[in-house]
Order: sequence, then C-alpha cells, then structure tokens
Amino acid sequence: MRVLVLGAGVLGSYLAHSLIKAGNDVTMLARGKRFEQLNTNGLVIKHYFQKKTTVDIVDVISELKEDDLYDLIFVVMKYNQFPSIYSTLANNISDNIVLVGNNADPKKMESEIQKLSKSKKNIGFGFQTSAGMREDSGRVISIHGKGNVMFGDLNGDLSLQQTFKKAFGTHYKVKIERDIEAWLLTHYVFILPMNSLLYLNDLNTKKISKSKVDLNKMIEATDEGYKVLKENGVNITPVTQGKLISDYRKLYYFAMKIYFRLPMNKVVSGSFDEMVALYNDFQKLKDNTKVNIKNWNELEEESLKKYHINKI
Ligand SMILES: NC(=O)c1ccc[n+]([C@@H]2O[C@H](COP(=O)([O-])OP(=O)(O)OC[C@H]3O[C@@H](n4cnc5c(N)ncnc54)[C@H](OP(=O)(O)O)[C@@H]3O)[C@@H](O)[C@H]2O)c1
Repeated sequence: MRVLVLGAGVLGSYLAHSLIKAGNDVTMLARGKRFEQLNTNGLVIKHYFQKKTTVDIVDVISELKEDDLYDLIFVVMKYNQFPSIYSTLANNISDNIVLVGNNADPKKMESEIQKLSKSKKNIGFGFQTSAGMREDSGRVISIHGKGNVMFGDLNGDLSLQQTFKKAFGTHYKVKIERDIEAWLLTHYVFILPMNSLLYLNDLNTKKISKSKVDLNKMIEATDEGYKVLKENGVNITPVTQGKLISDYRKLYYFAMKIYFRLPMNKVVSGSFDEMVALYNDFQKLKDNTKVNIKNWNELEEESLKKYHINKI
C-alpha cells in the first residue's frame, strides 16, 4: 500500500517505521532540518525498551503536490499544528486521511478539511501508544510496547477502517474505538493537568512524585475535567479511566506517584504550545457547565502564566 506519513516527529517516525515493517511503500513528509536528516541518515530510531536501534531507508518529500496519490495519508502532529495542513490535504487527490495525535475537537477538524475539499474525503482518527523524544541529531528515542494502534471515525465508515487495518497487517494489533471522539476528549482532559504539573515543576518528575499536594491537585483537576465532559454529554472513555478516579482514588494516587518515578519519563517530550490550544478549546466546554473546577482553573492559570512569561 502506498502510504504517506505527514509529520516526521516522535510519533510520526515510529508510525512510519511500523508501516514499513508491515510491508507498505512508505513516504514521509518532513520540512527543514528534519527533511535533510531523513535524507542523509535515514529514519533512525532507538527503541527504548527493546534496547536496539533501527535505520529505515525511506522516501522523503518536503511538499505534497495536488496529484501525489496515496492509498492512505497519516497526519501526525501537535494539535495546534494541524490547521497548517488543512488546505494541503484538501487540495491533494488522495481520499483516505487518518489524523493522529491529541485532539480536542475532531468534529471541527473533520468539517474544516471537508469544507476546503473539492470531493468528500474519508477521514478517521488514530492514536498510537508510544512516546519519546527527538535528539538534535534527528535520532528518535521511541518508547513503545509490542505495537498497538487505535482507529475510529465519526461516521462509521467501514471502508476506511478496512484500509487502516490492511496497512498494519498482522504485525500490529489494531484497536477499533467506537466512540473515538469521547476517547480523544477523555485523553486530553487526562493529560492536561499532568502536563501542567510537569511544566510548572520544570519536568522534575522526582519532585512531583514526592509532592502529595501537587499529585492531589492534579487528580482533583482531572476529576473536575471529567465532570465537565460528562455535563457536556461526553462518556468518559474508557469507562475504567473515570471509575479509577471516582471510586479508587487512593489506588490512582499511588499509580500516579509511581508513574512520575519511572525513568522513561526523562525521554518523553511535550509541547506547551499544544497545551495552550487544548486549554483554549476546553473553555467552550467549561462555559456550558456550572461545575466547580477550582483545581483545574488554578493549574491552567499558573501554567499559562509561566508559559507567557517564558515567551516574552
Ligand atoms: N512525544 C511524545 O512523547 C508523545 C506521547 C504521547 C502523545 N503524543 C502526542 O502525539 C502528537 C504528535 O506528537 P509528536 O511528539 O510526534 O510531535 P513532534 O515530534 O513535534 O512532531 C510533529 C511533526 O510534525 C511536523 N509538522 C508540523 N507542522 C507541519 C507542517 N505544516 N508541514 C510539515 N510538517 C509539519 C513537525 O515539523 P518540525 O520537525 O519542523 O518540528 C514535526 O516533525 C501530539 O498530539 C503529542 O502530544 C506525543
């Protein structure tokens, strides 16, 4: 299958590697320095748990032309970066697009792309359970297990689902998420307080894991975020995620304490630009409810204040 991975960062790189392993003809779209690195050195990935480095020779382009035809296009970037490629996707003749990454408003994203397109696109949403960081050399350190990818779409389009499954073949387990919108919304509400805490503590995960006050504030904020989602008619997905926080708070607390102690957290990169975009979109949901979200608001306010001061 001819596949394009648009966005050659941490997750896009591992996704491209997975798709090459599954037997696809993969092209990556990269820009600037990343384009040069991929052309010169290939796709270099250090697999953190597997303790090995792979190098894939991959076709790289810096621009998607109107008549470049792919069976499937994956777009893997930060939430705030997606709008920059809507018109590129809309003008291109390929029909099948899967958007991968954090997403606070998949409906809006899909409708923006459809509005610009001459013909209807098949749009789906994906997520990959991997993480990591990019080194200056271009080598990606990727933290992943055996390989799990998730797919869902807003219209129950089985043909795109089949194409997605075919691309991963038998190498990777594809999980179909029936309510991908609920999953994506739950996920970003889960990670926002966590990322704020990381940002406020200058990524000092050890310090966070020792701070009862910080951990409890983050947990309260997540719970408040879930309440806002529920009041907006969103089912917390997966259900266990909501139950853990409402019914097993102590267990959740210790799980988070351990999570922040894991050495792998040192090689997970985040972006506060993306966080700002996600916080901004959450505002619409907040405005619809009367839920008391004191902890959420405090974390948001404190981290945005620090972010703006650093930007000046
Ligand atoms: N990294 C993690 O540990 C991790 C873990 C879980 C979830 N996630 C989520 O996964 C998503 C993707 O994250 P990531 O870490 O893979 O991001 P990333 O490393 O920053 O990769 C994004 C890539 O997209 C490229 N890009 C952005 N706009 C573009 C454009 N208009 N044209 C061409 N390329 C463009 C960037 O180019 P440049 O090379 O020029 O920057 C970069 O290579 C995010 O939602 C993130 O929060 C990440």
